[in-house]
Formats: sequence, structure tokens, C-alpha cells
Amino acid sequence: MNLILIGPPGAGKGTQATRLVNERDMIQLSTGDMLRQAAQSGSELGRKVASIMESGGLVSDDIVTELIAERLSGNRRGGFIFDGYPRTLAQADALEQLLNASNARLDAVIEMEVDSEILVERITGRLSCGDCGAIYHLTNRPPQREGICDNCQTASLRQRDDDTETALRKRLLEYYRKTSPLTGYYYRAGLLCRVDSEGSPDDVAVSISNSIDQTLAIKK
Ligand code: AP5
Repeated sequence: MNLILIGPPGAGKGTQATRLVNERDMIQLSTGDMLRQAAQSGSELGRKVASIMESGGLVSDDIVTELIAERLSGNRRGGFIFDGYPRTLAQADALEQLLNASNARLDAVIEMEVDSEILVERITGRLSCGDCGAIYHLTNRPPQREGICDNCQTASLRQRDDDTETALRKRLLEYYRKTSPLTGYYYRAGLLCRVDSEGSPDDVAVSISNSIDQTLAIKK
């Protein structure tokens, strides 16, 4: 099972991808996480992408597609979750070619739908662990001890550099201009499942799980 989680910033893609990794032994491929790691490492790639990410713009299609291509070979376990990729029609085409080349295919595209006001509240309250990437929220999902990650126990919780109001405005604009047209593309391909993602993380997880199970049942 290979699936895409598509949705605006703060829709809960990372939160739900982590759950699918634990519950279905899938592999999460988050281009955002990969790019943040590169930016933190200070590598040439990192230096190139850091300011684009901080401003809320999109990194070039070639760079992100190369990051994905590097990870598609090898053990696929329960399948891949593409989190934040593809984000443009060019990336969607590239992904199709990469999957074809490795005799794999896309099984479902889950569109996570959330109202913009809720997105702002989620993004401005988000805390991420700089060490293991675990995701928290100041009120919806606070860590057990302030500033300490429940998962890896380090004092690495912080706000992301692009979780500012100005960057968020640009990220939303980029999403609605360049990424949301992909839902039409995948609808026409018969792969799109829309999931109301405004409920609690548990409720959203149940809805996503039901969509996946229905998709698998139809394909049997
Ligand atoms: P990326 O890291 O992919 O950011 P994003 O798409 O903006 O999504 P987010 O990570 O902000 O949100 P999410 O949907 O994962 O929500 P989360 O689960 O964290 O990309 C960052 C940047 O990298 C881009 O702007 C771009 O520059 C670059 N980039 C990445 N991929 C690229 C690509 N393919 N092409 C070009 N450039 C690319 O949840 C958010 C908060 O809400 C958390 O606090 C969480 O606890 C809370 N929450 C989650 N679900 C719920 C719920 N159901 N109820 C209440 N609270 C919830």
C-alpha cells in the first residue's frame, strides 16, 4: 500500500503519518523533514533550501524529487506514506515515473480537509522536537513535561522557523495555488479520498484508517 497524505500546512499530515508508521508498519517519507535535516546539517543543499523554507516558498521540484528517489529503493515494509510530496503537478508526474520504474503504484491519495482558521491555531501552537521530530501542540497535545520531548526525553522542543504568521500566509498561498490542483488530478485517476480532518487526532486516524481499508477491499 503506497499512499499520499495531501493537505495544507497544519492539516495533520505528520501527526497521522506517524500513527500509520506505528499501526501499519509503513515508511514515512516527509520531504519537509528531509529538508529540515539538510538545513540543520549546514550542508550545501541545506544552505540552498533554508531561506526558501523559512520564507514559506517551495523548494525546487528537482531537489525534492531527488530526495524521494534516493529513498524508494530497498525494503518497502508495509508501503510508503508520501507526506508533503508531491506538491506540484511536475512532482506528481515525477512520482508516477519513479513508482513505475520500481514496479510499484500509488493506491490512495488522502486529502485532509481543515478550515483555514483552525490551521492557523494549529500552526502557531505547534512545538516540534529538534532531535526526533515528534510533534506537539501547546494546548491540543502538550508534552508531559514542559519543553521536554516525551519520545526521546531531550529538551529540544521548539517552534519551527517557518511557523510565523508571515511564512504561514505564504505557505497557504503556495498550497492553494500549486498543490491543491493535484486533488483534481488524483480524483480523475480514481485515487482521491477526502477526509474531514477537523476532529481530534484519534477521530481523524479512524477516518483515515477506514478510507484505507475501503480502498484495500475494493482492490482485492
Ligand atoms: P512541511 O514540513 O511538509 O510542512 P507543511 O506541508 O506546511 O505541513 P506541516 O508540517 O506544517 O503540517 P502537517 O500537516 O504535517 O501538520 P502536523 O501534523 O505537524 O514543509 C515545510 C517546507 O518545506 C515547505 O514550506 C517547503 O518550503 C518545503 N517543502 C517540503 N516539501 C516540499 C515539496 N514536496 N516541494 C517543495 N518544497 C517542499 O500538525 C500541526 C499541529 O496541529 C501540531 O501541533 C499537531 O499537534 C496539531 N494537530 C494535528 N492534528 C490535529 C488534530 N486532529 N486536532 C488538533 N490538533 C492537531
